[in-house]
Amino acid sequence: MIALGSDHAGFELKEKIKKYLEEKKVETKDYGCFSDDPVDYPDYAEKVAKAVANGDADRGILVCGTGLGMSMSANKLPGIRAALCWNEKAAEMSRKHNDANVLCLGARLIDHTDALRIVDVWLKTSFDGGRHIKRVEKINKIV
Ligand code: RB5
Repeated sequence: MIALGSDHAGFELKEKIKKYLEEKKVETKDYGCFSDDPVDYPDYAEKVAKAVANGDADRGILVCGTGLGMSMSANKLPGIRAALCWNEKAAEMSRKHNDANVLCLGARLIDHTDALRIVDVWLKTSFDGGRHIKRVEKINKIV
């Protein structure tokens, strides 16, 4: 299951991603927000990051205006590797080398059709393992 979350600035793109994934039969759970009324992005980053960290979700996708606030907030939780991705290559590398478990997107900075391609690549790309394992373990050990 993929946990989805956004603030008001990311609401429209989060809805598009939800529809896109539902059409592809990917199971999602929407942690809000549920309209474009102003809210605070850390509240939604926390919900999604906790769902991923405690195993309720396999991975998470967070959307705000820039993706910055969501990535800063999600990365506060132990075990979360949230990657702000602006193109397909960044999405691919965040999975291959960093084993990113949360994808963050900036709805005001990227084209929404591109965003769906980024989601696609991010979901289908596996962690390379190998030499990257010890580096990811080192991230996990930082307190
Ligand atoms: C909301 O105006 C905006 O600050 C937020 O969506 C995000 O870009 C923060 O990082």
